Amino acid sequence: MSPLALRRVAVPRLLSRAVRSQTRQFSSTKPVARIISTQPLRAKEAPSPTTHSYPIIDHEYDAIVVGAGGAGLRAAFGLAEAGFNTACISKLFPTRSHTVAAQGGINAALGNMHKDDWRWHMYDTVKGSDWLGDQDAIHYMTREAPQSVIELENYGCPFSRTEDGRIYQRAFGGQSQDFGKGGQAYRCCAAADRTGHALLHTLYGQSLRHNTKYFIEFFATDLIMEDGVCKGVIAYNQEDGTIHRFKALNTVLATGGYGRAYFSCTSAHTCTGDGMAMVARAGLPNQDLEFVQFHPTGIYGAGCLITEGSRGEGGYLLNSEGERFMERYAPTAKDLASRDVVSRSMTMEIREGRGVGAEKDHIFLQLSHLPPDILHERLPGISETAAIFAGVDVTKQPIPVLPTVHYNMGGIPTKYTGEVLTQNAKGDDEVVPGLFACGEAACVSVHGANRLGANSLLDLIVFGRAVSHTIRDNFKPGQAQKEVAPDAGADSISVIDKARVADGPKSTAEIRSAMQKVMQTDVSVFRTQESLDEGVKGIDKVDQMFSQVGTKDRSMIWNSDLVETLELRNLLTCATQTAQAASNRKESRGAHAREDFPDRDDKNWMKHTLTWQKEPHGKVDIGYRSVIATTLDEAECKPVPPFKRTY
Ligand code: FUM
Repeated sequence: MSPLALRRVAVPRLLSRAVRSQTRQFSSTKPVARIISTQPLRAKEAPSPTTHSYPIIDHEYDAIVVGAGGAGLRAAFGLAEAGFNTACISKLFPTRSHTVAAQGGINAALGNMHKDDWRWHMYDTVKGSDWLGDQDAIHYMTREAPQSVIELENYGCPFSRTEDGRIYQRAFGGQSQDFGKGGQAYRCCAAADRTGHALLHTLYGQSLRHNTKYFIEFFATDLIMEDGVCKGVIAYNQEDGTIHRFKALNTVLATGGYGRAYFSCTSAHTCTGDGMAMVARAGLPNQDLEFVQFHPTGIYGAGCLITEGSRGEGGYLLNSEGERFMERYAPTAKDLASRDVVSRSMTMEIREGRGVGAEKDHIFLQLSHLPPDILHERLPGISETAAIFAGVDVTKQPIPVLPTVHYNMGGIPTKYTGEVLTQNAKGDDEVVPGLFACGEAACVSVHGANRLGANSLLDLIVFGRAVSHTIRDNFKPGQAQKEVAPDAGADSISVIDKARVADGPKSTAEIRSAMQKVMQTDVSVFRTQESLDEGVKGIDKVDQMFSQVGTKDRSMIWNSDLVETLELRNLLTCATQTAQAASNRKESRGAHAREDFPDRDDKNWMKHTLTWQKEPHGKVDIGYRSVIATTLDEAECKPVPPFKRTY
């Protein structure tokens, strides 16, 4: 029998609004800390050797969405609009989700600046992915892009405008006209340099309009999986310390990326790979985690994003000799080559002694030649960021920049419908019943080995929408659900409990910082077997350190010490799988640049990596999935055959 017994308690008034909710209580018979007040206890006073009870509140919804960034909100209101009783569970207030930080824009072949065709966008995306992207999914995303952006416009998204009132579209990296033959494309729809902010607020407004039920500042800890079927999630309500068990026929993970596994990243502190780690703990694979994108222009020393849109508006990179060096590395696209190419070129310049600054360890981004009214109108956000974080007046001085971790191409493997995939014993793809993923948490895979700028916001809305359509087309609102086991979630509660009373000698911050340093040093822009093996060893050591973690806050009320510790556990899962997948892939493709294997090797490596880590801190098993090299409909659009990628 489980050490955790279940017992009913009254529904607290605060929670009585929850639909079809039922409050229960898990009592641990293990000697664990007892919450004796809602104030944090000092470390010395806890743990006391008494039994602590965790109130459990049960909920049942037609669908639940974990995460309230662009993908989560789009999925949630799509479901609510279709009549599904939908809960959106988020560790943040929705408009604080990391989507808010997206700057440059969202790609769609609207043709507002020149003739355009979504097939050109598809060609650029396949090329950008270095042929690791699945072409059925890329076909779907680029074809759906124009109507998805128009839909956003109709919802009131405040896009910047052309003189004649159309959505303004700027140049962005890796975008071409006429299958690479027609020069730079202007395809990126922008709201100045605050497009993510505009988009997130628009989606939040829609979700309220369609009556999505929110559970805000709830930290989801684990999936409820029974016999290979996902039946919901367990979550901790930070506000009142209660534990919640959300049951649903369909669960959507839209929890974002794990940029915080690295020391310098543009990602929010909350980007901790929660969905990827939950999936791993459920015995399911992650896909292509070795592909980590470095954005060329993070502010030196601060990591804050300076949008690629600044180069789209005419900015350029300079080395210590005042040279526009991108002309040598990418003679056609120059500063608007794809991100992996620009980040590598900057790193080469620094390595060869042409970096700027006292330590010659960064590069300048020059914007001061642009007319001040353009800077003011189209790049107001980064002008302010540069002033605050680099002390630079962009109308007069260049911005010191360095490639900075920005995006995870890998994630939870899904079909273009958003259904999560695993493999059966024969190695064939199999859909995980009841589980969906979208946004950066997912690997659809439309970005393959390298994402093009402004394809991320697009991915969020296209696949958030696709998930809601898949559920709408296959289920009915109010459909009967199977019961979950009475002790479902008990393991998750044990982990919360253990972290809350952990009294080891290492702080969460200390372990996190050790992890970030290993990843930054050894799993970086350029990689070798030696560096990656060091990385695998280093991360394994840090991962084992987690057993020595010590937390200080023993309460359950707004325990950020506890949440950060659980987030660190998630980050360690992602970092471990990333290092091992990178060490295993013996070729260079997109963002995975191996100095010892400098070429792409389509014969042996045009395949997705799958990584399983059934036990947290345990062994990583590696497998593969074929890349889908066919489109959804050849009559509509032919696949793009592989060739050597140059810009
Ligand atoms: O540079 C940027 O504005 C980032 C855009 C993106 O990652 O899609």
